[in-house]
Amino acid sequence: MSIIEIKNLTKEYKRSTKALKNINLEIKTGELFALLGPNGAGKTTLINIICGLVNPSGGVVTIGGFDIINQYRQARALVSLVPQEIHLDPFITVEQTLEYTRGFFGKSKNVELTEQILKDLSLWDKKDSKVIQLSGGMKRRVLIAKALMNEPAVLFLDEPTAGVDVELRRDMWKFISKIKQSGSTIILTTHYLEEAEEMADRIGIIDKGELKIVEDKKILMQRMSKKQMQINLQKPLYDLPKELQLSNISLSQDKQTLTIEYGNGTADLDVADLMQTLKNNNISIGDVVTKQSSLEDIFIDLINK
Ligand SMILES: Nc1ncnc2c1ncn2[C@@H]1O[C@H](COP(=O)(O)OP(=O)(O)OP(=O)(O)O)[C@@H](O)[C@H]1O
Ligand SMILES: [Mg+2]
Repeated sequence: MSIIEIKNLTKEYKRSTKALKNINLEIKTGELFALLGPNGAGKTTLINIICGLVNPSGGVVTIGGFDIINQYRQARALVSLVPQEIHLDPFITVEQTLEYTRGFFGKSKNVELTEQILKDLSLWDKKDSKVIQLSGGMKRRVLIAKALMNEPAVLFLDEPTAGVDVELRRDMWKFISKIKQSGSTIILTTHYLEEAEEMADRIGIIDKGELKIVEDKKILMQRMSKKQMQINLQKPLYDLPKELQLSNISLSQDKQTLTIEYGNGTADLDVADLMQTLKNNNISIGDVVTKQSSLEDIFIDLINK
């Protein structure tokens, strides 16, 4: 079932080229969808339109069946956005920030929920600190906490880990996965391909306002990934044994390295078999290195097309 449906969505800003060109996309209930793309691709524009912060120029968007324009109240009640830019009142405490947010969403105070969210985001010991006293990474966590106070069906995270250190980023990934497990649908934008690789169920790649690809992460990585195994030989090998004269196996010019390509619809690799063949032919091996193309390779390939 789809919780969000986007049909023929376009956006033109004044004096600007088209920020979004005919976007069609469905977000499934409960999935984590990662939207990737270079600076200015249209990621923030797309999620701001869905969240009702930016008006579309054309097309239709529904959230839980509610049109974001004609039924904006019902549509908006289902979503929370963690924005790319940090906007917080610096002079109130972390706890107050969350409580006021709850009011802003038109919901009654919920002390247990506030406590739970503060603890989940490791902000409990900061609850009485003023926002101005927090570090950048902590402020980013307060933004997420704020969004969760709406108990949203769909949580949008625009660059949730921008400017966050590696350790905290990993913590946030764990936390975002936990929110997902609780049943929320999550849509995030990111520049960190590793982030999409780690967490996403599906990945969309957007470039210059066009959605270039929408694919299940595993399928995307499988379909486009190439794997390579390089075996350094202890002695140069002048004649490749017959059993190894295959199209996916090559010998380097210096005769010292065997390269085997596999995956991506080419031959499967049976490592045990290969090792046995080498042994049978008295070929001693040194280092073995395997490489797999990452989402980054796929991404760069696509953007450069
Ligand atoms: N308020 C605005 N007025 C005019 N043009 C805008 C406005 N907001 C965004 N744009 C333009 O729309 C395009 C898409 O911008 P958007 O912020 O959606 O990109 P993004 O993918 O989120 O980029 P980033 O990775 O840098 O956050 C850009 O060309 C940008 O200059
Ligand atoms: Mg952006």
